[in-house]
Amino acid sequence: MSNVTDLIAGMSLPVIAAPMFTVSNLEMALATCAQGMMGSFPAHTTRSGEMLEDWLITMAEGVVRLADEGVETVGPYGVNLVVAAGNQRLDQDLALCIKHKVPVILTSKGAPGEVFDAVHAYGGLVFHDIGAARHAEKALAAGADGLIAVCSGAGGHGGTLNPFALVNEVRQLTDKTIILAGAISTGQDILAAQIMGADLVYMGTRFINTEESGATDGYREMIIEARATDIFWGTITDAPSNTLTPSLLRAGVKLEDLRRQDPDALLAISERKKRWKDVWSAGHGVGAIHDVLSVEALCNRLKAEYAAAQAGLSRFQAAE
Ligand SMILES: Cc1cc2nc3c(=O)[nH]c(=O)nc-3n(C[C@H](O)[C@H](O)[C@H](O)COP(=O)(O)O)c2cc1C
Repeated sequence: MSNVTDLIAGMSLPVIAAPMFTVSNLEMALATCAQGMMGSFPAHTTRSGEMLEDWLITMAEGVVRLADEGVETVGPYGVNLVVAAGNQRLDQDLALCIKHKVPVILTSKGAPGEVFDAVHAYGGLVFHDIGAARHAEKALAAGADGLIAVCSGAGGHGGTLNPFALVNEVRQLTDKTIILAGAISTGQDILAAQIMGADLVYMGTRFINTEESGATDGYREMIIEARATDIFWGTITDAPSNTLTPSLLRAGVKLEDLRRQDPDALLAISERKKRWKDVWSAGHGVGAIHDVLSVEALCNRLKAEYAAAQAGLSRFQAAE
């Protein structure tokens, strides 16, 4: 993989099915590649180095098989590495990604240049996630090929800035690739992101409600019933994140305790952690999600919506 322009030109739509802990799995990633979009998963979703290596081999063989089967546009794949000092698996996981020449590494937290250099050395690309222009500056200095602008309303740890504000600030810093993240759910949204100045989009929450995702039926059902106002923004464990409020309430968590960050209450919450597998993250885009469908059906819908949105742009042309 030599550059991002070639990467995007080889995709059917500029969409990355974003890495989501325990939700993104091999099935979802490969099904996304089969539709010409980028599939991904976090390395830390796998339980061990052996399991990660199995997944990397399955992905590499899977994309070759898709091409052999005659799939016209096979999307690339990416693996998310948390590059913060606290990630004890980083060296091992990075070494495996290098060994298997993962086309795109999606890094989050920190921005160590050595990681970027190691990926570039085998011809891989690195997209680094940022929530503010100052993070973008550091990532660019370290050699990132693209910046994932994680904005307010994004699922998982989310961001706090308005997408127009963040994209405009980052665009003033660089003409490198910008990947917009946060509440992007439809083909219209993808085109809108491009018009704002982004090159690619990151779609997380929308892909939770696919048949292939690792989500439970209850999780998917809660997304269908939720609106943006059902998403709680706050710190539950380490850093602020967006969580489905009904899942917190059902686990007996009082939102006031989270808002006040009362140490005793937080301790009590963490002691109930075993119920946390049913505390679910999602972004503000939930209000646009009304179904569970296969990745193929979702991607076909995105393509159709995108084409309709493009065709509809003519209505904005000024009269001569
Ligand atoms: C359930 C869930 C788990 C996530 N896990 C990760 C993760 O492990 N690593 C990461 O970089 N981002 C993670 N994210 C963030 C996504 O990669 C992406 O930035 C976000 O979902 C985009 O916003 P959207 O959900 O509004 O589309 C997660 C998001 C969700 C919803």
